[in-house]
Amino acid sequence: MEANHPHLLVIGATGQLGSAILQRATLEKLTTTAFVRSQSRLNLPEMGNVTAHIGDLSDFGSVDKACSQGITHVVATASSIVPRKGEAFGVDDLLYYRNIIRACQTHGIQHLIYISAFPSPFDEQIPEFVIKRQVEQMIIESGIPYTIFRGAAFMDIYYAVMGSSAVMKGIPQPTLLRGYWLSRLWSSLTNGILEKYGVALVPGNGQTRQSFICIEDVANCMVRAINQPATINKLIDLGGPQALSWREVADIYGEKLDKKVTKLPLPIWLLKLLEFIMRKHSPAGANMMSILALLGQYEFTPDMTELSGLLDMEFTDTRSFISRKLAEGE
Ligand SMILES: NC(=O)c1ccc[n+]([C@@H]2O[C@H](COP(=O)([O-])OP(=O)(O)OC[C@H]3O[C@@H](n4cnc5c(N)ncnc54)[C@H](OP(=O)(O)O)[C@@H]3O)[C@@H](O)[C@H]2O)c1
Repeated sequence: MEANHPHLLVIGATGQLGSAILQRATLEKLTTTAFVRSQSRLNLPEMGNVTAHIGDLSDFGSVDKACSQGITHVVATASSIVPRKGEAFGVDDLLYYRNIIRACQTHGIQHLIYISAFPSPFDEQIPEFVIKRQVEQMIIESGIPYTIFRGAAFMDIYYAVMGSSAVMKGIPQPTLLRGYWLSRLWSSLTNGILEKYGVALVPGNGQTRQSFICIEDVANCMVRAINQPATINKLIDLGGPQALSWREVADIYGEKLDKKVTKLPLPIWLLKLLEFIMRKHSPAGANMMSILALLGQYEFTPDMTELSGLLDMEFTDTRSFISRKLAEGE
């Protein structure tokens, strides 16, 4: 039985997805605490019933204290998979989630909602996915009622990777810009090439389809899972409403920009070679290359009809998302 008046703890609140969750929780008028590191910048939504708790996931005491303050639900998106300058890739995630789980157990948290990555037969080849599966396992074995969403590629992130600047406009701290050297270098070289020059980077031959989902919809699903008994103790595949190839996404940009868009393939062999080269000195960079290689050759296209009905929400399609972002960017 879940609380009538949930009090959310959002862990990862300064990230791109975490910020969207705070916005959604505010719209739903939920009492919310944002778990924030002392040196981080938190953008509190206007009019929201949101307060900040300063802590660090590597410090159990601070997580424990956050959970002790009447929290009923924990929504966790934090990770060090796109590490900040000076931080290591992924190594601390298991410690972070061990601390979160221990604090949830101590304080009888009613529901832990976690964002994981989409499943594939190649999980073992993607460092991030190896970590995500371990975290999932820890959560499942913890005995805490959980919902784990296994997310497809986010439009907001991967359309930026293709070269779109519009998807990052107005975002306080876009993941790609706050991250480590490669994500910032990639962004500085490619940001806006789609809108300015009509050039789209496409992994592989660009024909592999993905059910891209926008971050706002991911946030909406995670918040709507609260007080939704049918989502308890479930691993839920999460994608957008349609399966599109990278080339089709580029064509939609072309249509909206009224421009011919040239698709520049990023061959799988090149992505794999870069992954190999970076493996030793930049695990985060190698991870990014391995994910792009996977997204360029493996299709993840779950059917969202049931979840859409269960959570009573309509997922945003790529055409509407791009139209909105281009209009906002003007
Ligand atoms: N991109 C995709 O297509 C995709 C698809 C499926 C799933 N996902 C998953 O979605 C999740 C969230 O993405 P995002 O874009 O919001 O990530 P993000 O922008 O990189 O945010 C990471 C968050 O974790 C926090 N964090 C890291 N270490 C911490 C610590 N020691 N203590 C407290 N907080 C800490 C960061 O806080 P600071 O501000 O202090 O650094 C930040 O708020 C990730 O786990 C990602 O794997 C992404």
